[in-house]
Amino acid sequence: MQLHGQVALITGAGRGIGKAIALRFAREGADVAVVDLNGEWAQTTAIEVTALGRRAFARTTDVSDYDQVQATVREAVAALGRLDILVNNAGIGKAQPFLQITKENWERHLHVHLFGSFYCAQAAAREMAQRHYGRIINIASVAGLMGPIDLAPYGVAKAGIIGLTRAAALDLADYGITVNAIAPGPIDTELLRTWPEEALRERAQHLPIARLGRVEEIAHAALFLASPESGFINGTVLVVDGGSVAAGAYMVEKYRRRKAAS
Ligand SMILES: NC(=O)c1ccc[n+]([C@@H]2O[C@H](COP(=O)([O-])OP(=O)(O)OC[C@H]3O[C@@H](n4cnc5c(N)ncnc54)[C@H](O)[C@@H]3O)[C@@H](O)[C@H]2O)c1
Repeated sequence: MQLHGQVALITGAGRGIGKAIALRFAREGADVAVVDLNGEWAQTTAIEVTALGRRAFARTTDVSDYDQVQATVREAVAALGRLDILVNNAGIGKAQPFLQITKENWERHLHVHLFGSFYCAQAAAREMAQRHYGRIINIASVAGLMGPIDLAPYGVAKAGIIGLTRAAALDLADYGITVNAIAPGPIDTELLRTWPEEALRERAQHLPIARLGRVEEIAHAALFLASPESGFINGTVLVVDGGSVAAGAYMVEKYRRRKAAS
């Protein structure tokens, strides 16, 4: 019970990685504020948190909307009494070749990932600062560390999240708050299953650990960073990717094939 008596707010916790983090934190004794654009999914996760014996608060929120985020954090604290942990996990991913990127796709990625992470981090930190304790965990991506193909808005937003992590870590240290990022490699979720099956198989084969990651493996990393014992870890990026960054193996085959075809 590493998080006994604590309260965590997790964005995008209606499904996928965020849901796995919510349930893992609940098993470790945390009450959980489940925030998602999809209210039904948020409710379902909240019911599962409650079934684990913890308190839950569910809220439909678009993290890219500043006012909604302020209200959600305020209401979550009113409902659960405090806020110890924030996981900025909500995200989208829509591939577009560079010359075809639309203004809407570019702006939506930056608004949801980067602006949303800032809005949530600032609102949460204002609560955490009052008790001089907090853990903020931003879900970045290996796409923020290596140039992704046909995913420029996504990669740029994730690189921005890594910059936000470092800046906030410095600015919030005086308030007892640590800020770290996790950079997952490909994780088997609905988001990734929008890829063609062959592309997914190929992506998995590029990893030294030749398989996709599991949501529970990101939840495990989030728990590590969220635990009270991790107080000296600050402003860092924990890469959880089966070794793909170490191998420099991000989409190399796809790149070669595109070159060959041109
Ligand atoms: N799956 C992967 O391979 C992978 C790899 C690296 C990073 N990530 C990141 O992990 C996070 C979770 O991804 P996932 O694979 O679980 O995706 P997912 O699509 O399964 O889940 C994302 C959740 O975020 C919610 N969401 C989307 N936009 C939102 C918004 N504006 N406000 C509130 N909630 C919103 C969705 O409703 C959904 O429940 C994302 O930030 C993603 O970029 C995923």
